Amino acid sequence: MDVCRFTPPKSANFCLKRDDKTCPMLVVSRVAAAISGLSNLDAILRIGLDTTLEFMNWVVGGIMLLDEETNLLCYHVYRGLSDDYAESMCLNLGEGIAGRVAQSGKAIFLEDISVEPKAAKLDLIAKEGLKAFVSVPLQAKERVFGVMNCANKFPRLFTETDIHLLHSIGDQLGIAINHANLYEQLKKERERYRQLARQVILAQEGERKRIARELHDETSQTLAGLALNLQAMIELAEMLGIQNEQFKAILKKTHASTVQVNIEVSRLIADLRPALLDILGLIPAIRQYIESSLAPLGIQINFRLEELKKTLLPEEEVTLFRWVQGAVGNIIQHAQAKNVLVSMLYREGDLVLQVSDDGKGFNPLHLRNPGERGRGYGLFNMKERMNLIGASCSVQTEPGRGTTVTAVIPNERWLSGKRGAAYAED
Ligand SMILES: Nc1ncnc2c1ncn2[C@@H]1O[C@H](COP(=O)(O)OP(=O)(O)OP(=O)(O)O)[C@@H](O)[C@H]1O
Ligand SMILES: [Mg+2]
Repeated sequence: MDVCRFTPPKSANFCLKRDDKTCPMLVVSRVAAAISGLSNLDAILRIGLDTTLEFMNWVVGGIMLLDEETNLLCYHVYRGLSDDYAESMCLNLGEGIAGRVAQSGKAIFLEDISVEPKAAKLDLIAKEGLKAFVSVPLQAKERVFGVMNCANKFPRLFTETDIHLLHSIGDQLGIAINHANLYEQLKKERERYRQLARQVILAQEGERKRIARELHDETSQTLAGLALNLQAMIELAEMLGIQNEQFKAILKKTHASTVQVNIEVSRLIADLRPALLDILGLIPAIRQYIESSLAPLGIQINFRLEELKKTLLPEEEVTLFRWVQGAVGNIIQHAQAKNVLVSMLYREGDLVLQVSDDGKGFNPLHLRNPGERGRGYGLFNMKERMNLIGASCSVQTEPGRGTTVTAVIPNERWLSGKRGAAYAED
């Protein structure tokens, strides 16, 4: 039996009727249309195979994929073949008909595979009753991803049209498999990046807590003690009737500075680890933080804060609070706003947190990649943090028209109670 190795003709075939199932161009375009837009490998293979078999009027076929590491070619999807056959027919690269096709990247068409000496596992082929057999490579960019085999239970000679057609379908499937692989790779990269971002945020939160605790337990306590001692010295100086005005002035100034530094340290601690969040809960903490940050700048603040319907996990509260801090930080740094509206409302069950300002706004298209100028992680961090608790974050703005940042914590999360611990509590 002759093994036919075929390179398709360059010339295209034109069809006379739109529904002509024997028209190669039409069949190829139908297969291409069926698999286009699919990114799931399994779906591509199933739909690709089914469409091919349907248009070819064949009932037996399968797609074997090549494992890059083991170089083994095994059935991934099949129709009209027994499970036994499909599971046992794993071939090495170069082995049997499909193995040769995968190795050479050239299709093989056989009138009757059951008498083909180069075929592997002839006993299985005979048991399955396969006769006419075609194996085409699925390849793209010089790389073979696997083969598509179609078979019949009776011998058959292949026409040039069959050959041309199957070759073209193989190329289409190869391109789709390549895309699906790239998509999968992208998804994995994205997931890896997410994990990394999560680690960074976790580390940042842990470090903030540690610094806040040290500032509170060491620095702040020491400063408070120092202020008390200085106060005592001032009183002592009065009691002892010390007349040196310069000495008394320095003492008072040192005391005032110490008190001021302690206030600054307390503010720093509050920024690092909002104590109000632990004591009063999210809404009063947001209110207090915004008032203490924006009111001194003469910014008019309006609140529309609905009571929470469910208790939030500590890491969720911290996430929402940090998010508000990010938005407020940007208003202070960039907005030149006169009015700010902060709202936390339920919209169709979703919890929607929004901070709007009437400041100068900006063109989001002009945002540069974070880090290019050593800053610019604010909005990025806000989005990443929200994503970690399953929420989304968006920005609506344009120059001269203020800025609104919105976070939406979707309904399902509140109902299902499916909550991943985003931050490890220490
Ligand atoms: N409310 C706002 N009003 C006007 N411009 C804003 C506002 N929020 C953000 N921007 C613009 O978007 C840019 C990116 O903001 P983002 O918070 O990501 O970074 P940043 O504030 O520049 O730096 P970082 O937050 O890392 O300190 C800002 O540089 C600013 O130009
Ligand atoms: Mg910022």
